[in-house]
Amino acid sequence: MYSKKYFIANWKMNGEPKDLDRIYKIEKFLKNFKKKINLNCIFCLPFTLLGLINHKKISVIKIGSQNIAASSIDYGAFTGSVSAKMVRQLGCKYTIIGHSENRNEGETDKDINKKIEFASSKNLKAILCVGETFNEFKNKKSFNKVKSQIYSAFKDNKRHLGNIVIAYEPIWSIGTGLIPEKVYLDSFFKKIKDLIRKDFKKNVPVLYGGSVSSKNISSLKNIDCCDGFLIGGASLKTQNFIDIIKKYYI
Ligand code: 13P
Repeated sequence: MYSKKYFIANWKMNGEPKDLDRIYKIEKFLKNFKKKINLNCIFCLPFTLLGLINHKKISVIKIGSQNIAASSIDYGAFTGSVSAKMVRQLGCKYTIIGHSENRNEGETDKDINKKIEFASSKNLKAILCVGETFNEFKNKKSFNKVKSQIYSAFKDNKRHLGNIVIAYEPIWSIGTGLIPEKVYLDSFFKKIKDLIRKDFKKNVPVLYGGSVSSKNISSLKNIDCCDGFLIGGASLKTQNFIDIIKKYYI
């Protein structure tokens, strides 16, 4: 079991330069809290804000991007794309890869596999998102779907597994307020962990994502084998995000 918990904010397509103050406020809170807790706090920001962060104002919080280009080259003719190298140059340590909102726009398992390699080669840790649709959940296909996403992402990437954090985000739970039951999540997390340990001989952190808030964290924190959370909407409100961490450690 990991003792170091992850609290990852995914701002998605939100945030103006002035909103970076929220991160500095959370940093202050964490600095005072840090003596008692052991956590990885990462803010995954839109590309437009990555270069504007004042890294002198943060030491506990790390910064990540929400995606990288599916290209092995650092610079080139890829209009609208941002390479792993460019993201790393801005001081990012992490990148989200394979978010369902990007898979939905055509990102393939093959792209995701390559992006893990490109991220690792530039020393960026990958937050790999996996998860099933509501139909797949209803038809008891969740584990098979997630298993195939993990296998496909890990293929030929075994040497990079130390650089990966998995976020299990049931697609039907994102932004809907719907959350799978605890008994279901307990067994699901255990199955994912066992699978990775058995087939890849690694202990990869596995996080939960989908409608996490300060209202439900007190029950979500009890999911067996869960190493933390990937938080969308609730990460945009400073006090909500702080309350999630506070309530987790009560
Ligand atoms: P919400 O927390 O808004 O449901 O979003 C989850 C998510 O997609 C994080 O990546």
